[in-house]
Amino acid sequence: MAMVCLSDFEAYARKYLPKIAWDFFAAGADDCSTRDENILAYKRIRFQPRMLRDVSLMDIRTKLLGTEISFPVGIAPTGFHQLAWPDGEKSTARAARALNTCYIASTYSTCTLEEISAAAPGGFRWFQLYIHRNREVSQQLVQRAEASGFQGLVLTADVPYTGKRRDDLRNAQMRFSSVLWMQGDDRSEYGLPPNSLDPSVTWRDIYWLRSLTRLPIIVKGILTKEDAELAVRHGVQGIIVSNHGGRQLDGGPATIDALVEVVEAVQGRVEVYLDGGIRKGSDILKALALGAKCVFIGRPALWGLAYKGEEGLQDVLRILQEEFRLSMALAGCASVSEIGPHLVRFSKL
Ligand SMILES: Cc1cc2nc3c(=O)[nH]c(=O)nc-3n(C[C@H](O)[C@H](O)[C@H](O)COP(=O)(O)O)c2cc1C
Repeated sequence: MAMVCLSDFEAYARKYLPKIAWDFFAAGADDCSTRDENILAYKRIRFQPRMLRDVSLMDIRTKLLGTEISFPVGIAPTGFHQLAWPDGEKSTARAARALNTCYIASTYSTCTLEEISAAAPGGFRWFQLYIHRNREVSQQLVQRAEASGFQGLVLTADVPYTGKRRDDLRNAQMRFSSVLWMQGDDRSEYGLPPNSLDPSVTWRDIYWLRSLTRLPIIVKGILTKEDAELAVRHGVQGIIVSNHGGRQLDGGPATIDALVEVVEAVQGRVEVYLDGGIRKGSDILKALALGAKCVFIGRPALWGLAYKGEEGLQDVLRILQEEFRLSMALAGCASVSEIGPHLVRFSKL
């Protein structure tokens, strides 16, 4: 099967993954309107490309909080990679290192933080944290992440409770926890509200996190200018505009639509990233034109793993890299610094 674009990997994963794993990866909350809107919204944004601008030499590198990556796409935190490939997160870490990009490992990884680090020494990695009711569990995770070489802490803000994902509930007789190990010894059944996560978390907990670690803190799940302002005021180093791939509150905006007001509110004080619905190189170009410094992929990374583990994920990243380079060139940009809002307009589609 010739793998030409990310939908080819999606089709493969849908066909060959066990139904329960496919359902878990694909799920959105309720009737999935936000999950689907994340993708549809890109179609309403059209390019205003510039011509005759010498794109013979292309530079698609960028920096995340000072660390250079080969192109502005990283891997978003997603749980349970062993449902996609036996080596799980070890393969993910290796693929991210091979492409010289950033991998955000989930609290719900099926390999330990130490295994992930050992699989790809020297790789650029952040750790995604959910705050547990038992703060000691979170504190230990933060310390282990720092000790094993993770370079940033991503606090996910949009999961006081797990969103209602219908297929996961229908499949609930299969207990992920009986076959998989979770970080932080959280053996609650995934898909149902994990009662070990603390729903009382507030902005003040950023100060608590700050007291535990010297790593930069990035907050994930921001969708409004008000929360963007609060994030900056509480001293985070980065914001990920995200709606959790439409798996939490159904009916919220597409992330590419929310990006504009967040970027405007932040005014360059911290870096702003985006995830949700990135499926091709031109999506990346649109997100950067609207002010994202970098984007992250969630489900497409899982499809790559399901296809061929590390190699499959490398394929996914390489395809995105080539498509992004081509989109930039066709829009008249030879380097990432030339990308700006002049490149896009919103259509009334
Ligand atoms: C199967 C799956 C598991 C996820 N697990 C986590 C997680 O453990 N922590 C987290 O912060 N986000 C999690 N997310 C959300 C992703 O980080 C990201 O926001 C989302 O997948 C981006 O949308 P995309 O899948 O359209 O690229 C998960 C998403 C999926 C699809």
